[in-house]
Amino acid sequence: MKTTFDFSGSSILVTGASSGIGRATVELLCASGASVVAAARNVNELARLAEETGCEPLTLDVGDPVAIDEALTELDGFDGLVNCAGVALLERAIDTTAASFDRVMAVNARSAALISGHVARGMIAAKRPGSIVNVSSQAGLAALDDHLSYSASKAAMDAITRALCIELGPHGIRVNSVNPTVTLTPMAELAWSDPVKREPALKGIPLRRFAQPHEVAEPILYLLSDASSMISGVSLPIDGGYTAR
Ligand SMILES: NC(=O)c1ccc[n+]([C@@H]2O[C@H](COP(=O)([O-])OP(=O)(O)OC[C@H]3O[C@@H](n4cnc5c(N)ncnc54)[C@H](OP(=O)(O)O)[C@@H]3O)[C@@H](O)[C@H]2O)c1
Repeated sequence: MKTTFDFSGSSILVTGASSGIGRATVELLCASGASVVAAARNVNELARLAEETGCEPLTLDVGDPVAIDEALTELDGFDGLVNCAGVALLERAIDTTAASFDRVMAVNARSAALISGHVARGMIAAKRPGSIVNVSSQAGLAALDDHLSYSASKAAMDAITRALCIELGPHGIRVNSVNPTVTLTPMAELAWSDPVKREPALKGIPLRRFAQPHEVAEPILYLLSDASSMISGVSLPIDGGYTAR
């Protein structure tokens, strides 16, 4: 895969690496010289990705705080982190249950706080600067039908980005979010294939198309790189202008 960045000598942890945006990010990072630890639950997909890219697979359920502690106390020395693992449980706002709300918050938001804490403590101890990128969503910035828990989790993720930004900035660690619109991962391709659903959604996007995974991965690499060395605490829409309205 073609890339404009050089991450030679950098060690980067990517969660949600087995599929979609996380997978595209690992592919680009490895192609640009980074040593990548790629985390997810699907052992087979991780093995396939490791074979293809040379990344180091890490089996981890980010919804389990004990598993996070166990996995990350043994790993250290990261220059960058991408919190990309996420779930979307879509339901009407008035049908939201405690179980669905808690699950989405745990996987999407709490994991980002806990994993960032581990990685940042390592950076601080080693006195090395770093960059953390949280993969949030346009749903954290604007209301969408059937997205109450998901939107709350992504707005929480953006708040986590800002809280980490002010606490870690003095250590030379930058923290940012990216907020993609619908991104055509294999699952999203299927979910948005029905024109009745797709056409109204496309009308809301000034560029009149959805994003491709590499169009989210490239800005993630930008935020990990020194090209963005003065950028911290932002939530960057990658939405073809959706949130400009
Ligand atoms: N695609 C979109 O339209 C879109 C738009 C805006 C934001 N996003 C965000 O982008 C991120 C990636 O989404 P995607 O579209 O690429 O989805 P995806 O293809 O479904 O990938 C989700 C990734 O998260 C991992 N994951 C889910 N639950 C996990 C858990 N409990 N522990 C560890 N890993 C877990 C999955 O790995 P395993 O199943 O192997 O664990 C998989 O690697 C998510 O945070 C999502 O909210 C996506």
